[in-house]
Amino acid sequence: MRRKVIAGNWKMNNNLPESQNLITKLISGLGNEKLNCEVIICPPFPSLSEAASLVKNTVVKLGAQNMYFEDSGAFTGEVSASMLKSVGCEYVILGHSERRTLFGENDQLINKKIKKALTSGLKPIFCVGETLQEREGNVTKNVIKRQITEGLKEISANDMDRIIIAYEPVWAIGTGKTATPEQAEEVHAFIRGLISSLYSQSVAESLVIQYGGSVKPDNAKELLSQKNIDGSLVGGACLKADSFISIIKAA
Ligand code: PGA
Repeated sequence: MRRKVIAGNWKMNNNLPESQNLITKLISGLGNEKLNCEVIICPPFPSLSEAASLVKNTVVKLGAQNMYFEDSGAFTGEVSASMLKSVGCEYVILGHSERRTLFGENDQLINKKIKKALTSGLKPIFCVGETLQEREGNVTKNVIKRQITEGLKEISANDMDRIIIAYEPVWAIGTGKTATPEQAEEVHAFIRGLISSLYSQSVAESLVIQYGGSVKPDNAKELLSQKNIDGSLVGGACLKADSFISIIKAA
């Protein structure tokens, strides 16, 4: 049985006091109840250190939303993997479609970041997904195949158990348009098959594949009940403790 993983991508929301407030509500809302899933929050950089102290000794784990692949140096505005580790991050989201489209990240750059995250002891949440145009042009699987093959270049089977793949159709992100459970399941099954051919069946069987794109309390359960959907990467709905907790409970 694969574990389920629910991650909240806060994006560029919440300053430090707002972050403290949301995390405090989340932790008290979750209480001591035993969960059937892993919970990760990914606040913006300035809140990470404080977030790490707030989630210490709770079920909530910490991730960042991005990083650069170099160790240090003249890279104004960037943060390194070791900086993220040093403030208590366990995960890092890489290859998010907003990074790809708004900040020009390509498969090669994302591959370098994934490799650096792994050698630094961070676990990547590696995002892939097609645009509406690509879906309508019937090239979804080609796009996903390219993103995964390039993104995972030179990554060993051994390292694959520290990677989560998040399938996030770009047309479903922040739009309120979710992929139907069938549409999502079809791509998730395709991804698992692809990982099986790139690595092995056992690597594919243990890989956690999250779905992301307008996951809400009212659609989470149906999505999460699909055979190949092992969790959610949640944007908008993770910004309110109540709705994020409902999604966690759905898992
Ligand atoms: P959304 O974002 O839930 O607001 O659609 C998901 C994501 O971008 O990770």
